[in-house]
Amino acid sequence: MTHDTDGFSYRDGELYCEDVRVQDLCEQHGTPLYIYSHDAFVRRFKEIDDAFKGTPLVIAYAMKSNSNLAILRAMARHGAGADIVSGGELFRALKAGVDPKKIVFAGVGKSDDEISDALDAGILLFNVESVAEAHAISRVAQRKGVDAPIALRINPDVDAKTHQYTTTGKKGTKFGVDLDVAIEAYEEMRGLPNLDICAVHAHIGSPVRSIDAYEEALKRLVDLIDNLRALNFDIRLLNFGGGLPILYKDDETAFHPDEYAARVKPLVQRTGCVLILEPGRFISGNSGILCTRVMFRKETDHKTFVIVDGAMNDLIRPALYDGYHRIHPVIEKSDERETVDVVGPVCESGDFLAKGREIMRAEQGEYLAVFSAGAYGFAMASNYNSRPRTPEIMVVGDATHVIRERESYEDLIRGESIPDFLWNDPSK
Ligand code: LLP
Repeated sequence: MTHDTDGFSYRDGELYCEDVRVQDLCEQHGTPLYIYSHDAFVRRFKEIDDAFKGTPLVIAYAMKSNSNLAILRAMARHGAGADIVSGGELFRALKAGVDPKKIVFAGVGKSDDEISDALDAGILLFNVESVAEAHAISRVAQRKGVDAPIALRINPDVDAKTHQYTTTGKKGTKFGVDLDVAIEAYEEMRGLPNLDICAVHAHIGSPVRSIDAYEEALKRLVDLIDNLRALNFDIRLLNFGGGLPILYKDDETAFHPDEYAARVKPLVQRTGCVLILEPGRFISGNSGILCTRVMFRKETDHKTFVIVDGAMNDLIRPALYDGYHRIHPVIEKSDERETVDVVGPVCESGDFLAKGREIMRAEQGEYLAVFSAGAYGFAMASNYNSRPRTPEIMVVGDATHVIRERESYEDLIRGESIPDFLWNDPSK
């Protein structure tokens, strides 16, 4: 296998996460099961950090990609901040001891309560997505008698060529403010009380495979900073978002953070700004797998279905974005390959992990590893079909830690209640 599936490797045909046999984890904890390599998370974070040595930098880990508390703690322990998009994410980040001075808050619909909590925590920056939102932040900050540090999120109108659902930097998306009206928006915000207008922000998509698109967007931001400074705005931070790519398939390309830094650094240094990056997938994507067991094989005239116990509620990326996740047996038992649909038990035709995919033949009872599932895997999991969400395991060398237990049926109904009248016979 030639993948950058950090932390996971085959030894004599058996999959290991660091020094732990994945088959043992599957047998011990049951499936479906998410497994993360602590070392991979840290290594990926450090690759970015090292690439930018000498540039003042805050790496705000995009916790939407994987927000388990232990993951957040592991990141914070090595100096990462957090890119948050909700009050819930703020709550998690603070619980995990993330330094509030490294937290940035994005999202097009922040509520007054969320703004208030973030101000109380003393976060580094609000990434403001509209002038209307700046009004709301100003109002809440004034009430508290504090200044809110803000960046306006700019839509630089570059085509990052990502899936339509994850394209954010082109005209016509709901995110940010178009570049051609940015100055106007900054001027309007200048008139509002209790705002410290100190930054510009852009995030152009996820994942972005074109380094040229990044460079073009950054040039536009740097020009904007020059123009804003000429108008006496005190711009000190440049938040350039996330979107760094990973390899899901062998035939993809993904540039290294060193190449990215080589393009980004000179432009940022010219501004003298502190750089903020918001990588999620680059850190978490290949640092985790989803393990699932073959429940049945179903061979029809048209095709073979491999029915597994993991489903779209556990990993929705194939169904939602046509996401490709490499699938391979946890123990390689046969050289035979076959083209199959790998499907889950959820009652939807859209419930598949792979379609028309050639994989190594796997029999009933065998375990399969679904790779590159560390980002937007568990984080997007749901209880659809009343399926309890999976456990999450963190492997550190030869040690394993259950960092989230499997949900129980009781967990599924927590908070629900049946009004008394519904127990009465409606015919009486
Ligand atoms: N910053 C902002 C403002 C974002 O909107 C995002 C992702 C990131 C940073 C982190 O992007 P990353 O470094 O992880 O590419 N669920 C989709 C991806 C949605 C991305 C949303 N925003 C998927 O599974 O592909």
